[in-house]
Amino acid sequence: MASFGAERSMEFSCIFLSLFVLFSFDQTRAQSVPAMYVFGDSIVDVGNNNHLPLSIIRADFPNNGIDYPGKKATGRFSNGKNAADFLAEKLGLSTAPPYLSQPNSVFVKGVSFASGGAGIFNVTNENLIKHTIPLPHQVGYFSTVRQGLEKELGSTAVQGHLAKSLFPIVIGSNDIINYFNSDSDASKKSSPQQYVALMVSTLKELLKGLYGLGGRKFLAIGLAPIGCAPKQRFRNITGECNKEVNYWSNKYNEGLKQMLNEVKAELKEFHYSYLDTYSVFVDFIESPSTYGFNETKAACCGLGRLRAKLPCTPVSQFCSKRSDHLFWDIYHPTEAAARIFIDIFVNGSGNYVSPMTLQQLIAI
Ligand SMILES: *[C@@H]1O[C@H](CO)[C@@H](O)[C@H](O)[C@H]1NC(C)=O
Ligand SMILES: *[C@@H]1O[C@H](CO)[C@@H](O)[C@H](O)[C@H]1NC(C)=O
Ligand SMILES: *[C@@H]1O[C@H](CO)[C@@H](O)[C@H](O)[C@H]1NC(C)=O
Ligand SMILES: *[C@@H]1O[C@H](CO)[C@@H](O)[C@H](O)[C@H]1NC(C)=O
Repeated sequence: MASFGAERSMEFSCIFLSLFVLFSFDQTRAQSVPAMYVFGDSIVDVGNNNHLPLSIIRADFPNNGIDYPGKKATGRFSNGKNAADFLAEKLGLSTAPPYLSQPNSVFVKGVSFASGGAGIFNVTNENLIKHTIPLPHQVGYFSTVRQGLEKELGSTAVQGHLAKSLFPIVIGSNDIINYFNSDSDASKKSSPQQYVALMVSTLKELLKGLYGLGGRKFLAIGLAPIGCAPKQRFRNITGECNKEVNYWSNKYNEGLKQMLNEVKAELKEFHYSYLDTYSVFVDFIESPSTYGFNETKAACCGLGRLRAKLPCTPVSQFCSKRSDHLFWDIYHPTEAAARIFIDIFVNGSGNYVSPMTLQQLIAI
C-alpha cells in the first residue's frame, strides 16, 4: 500500500511537459531583459516545493539531480537542469531563485514562483498530503514582490523595469492530468469541454491581473501531448498514448491561443509569444533520431513496465544514458530534452512560436 500511495502522489504531482521556452539573441539584446518572473509547475520549479514541508510533491531526493552539478537533488523534477535554467542561460541571466527560499528579498533580477504539481485551479493537487503554490497564489506572491520592488526602485522605475522583464507561464498540465484520473471530482462535476474552458477563462483573469501589476511581455507555453507521458502509456496494455488526454491537451492549447489573442485586443501593451510545445513533442516522438533520442516511451528513472509502474525514487532503476531518453520520470522530460526544446525555440523562428519570436518580444 505504501508504494501504491507514493505512485499515486507522483502521478498527481506531475506535470510533464507543458514546456519550455526560448530563444536566441545576441548579448546586447539579452542585456535588455533585466529579469524573469517565472510562473508555473514542475517543468520549471527550481526548488519552491522544498519549502512546503507537508507536501509529498517534491523532488529533493535522488535519483533526481544525478546529472546536476555536484549530483545534487535541488528540487528540480529532472536528472539535471530544467527548462527554466536553459531559458535563463539563453538570456544571459542567472536562473531566477525559488521565491520561498528567500521570501523577503527584493527580486530585481527576477524570481520563480513555479511549484511542482501546481495548476491553474486552487484545488488542483491540494489535499491532506499534497500541497503546491497554485497559480492564483503565485500571482498573489508576485503582488507582494512588486511592493518590495516599488520601495526599492520607486514607482516610475518599477513600471519600466517590469515592462522590460519577461513573464514565462508554464501551467495547465496538472489540471488536465487530474481531470483524467479515474477518481477525479472534476470529471464528475463537469464535461471536459467545460473544464478546459474554465481553465482558459481562469488563466485569462490571472494574466490580466499580472498585467495590472505591470507585466507586459509574456511567454505562454502550450501543453505537450500529455497522453504520451510514460505514466499515461503505462495504463495502456500496448503502451499507446492516451488519445483522449491528448485530444483535450490540444483543445486547451487552441483555447489558450484564442484567449491570448483576445487579451491582446483588450490590453494594448500586452505582448506575448506562444510556444507550440505540442508540435515539438510530436516531432520528438515521430523522428527521435533527429534529436538524438533512442527512447521516447519509457521513463529513464522508475520501476516496472516503461519504468512507469512506480515513480523515480532512491531505489528506482535508472537508465545509463540519460541523454537518449525523452523522459526522465513518469511525467518529466530529461535535461537533454529540456535543452533541445530551448534550442528549437531559439532557432525555429516561425515554426513553433507565434505571433512573434522571443527576439521580437524582447525588442518591443
Ligand atoms: C484562489 O485562491 C486565491 C488566494 O487565496 C483567492 O483569492 C481566489 O479567490 C481563489 N480562486 C478561486 C477560483 O477560488
Ligand atoms: C490502447 O491504445 C489503443 C490506441 O489508442 C486503443 O485502441 C486501446 O483501446 C487502448 N487500450 C486500453 C486498454 O486502453
Ligand atoms: C536504440 O538503440 C538500440 C541499441 O543501439 C537499437 O537496437 C534500437 O533500435 C534503438 N532504438 C531507437 C528507437 O532508435
Ligand atoms: C540551434 O542553433 C545552434 C547554433 O546555430 C546549433 O548549435 C544547434 O544545434 C541548433 N539546435 C537545433 C535544435 O536546431
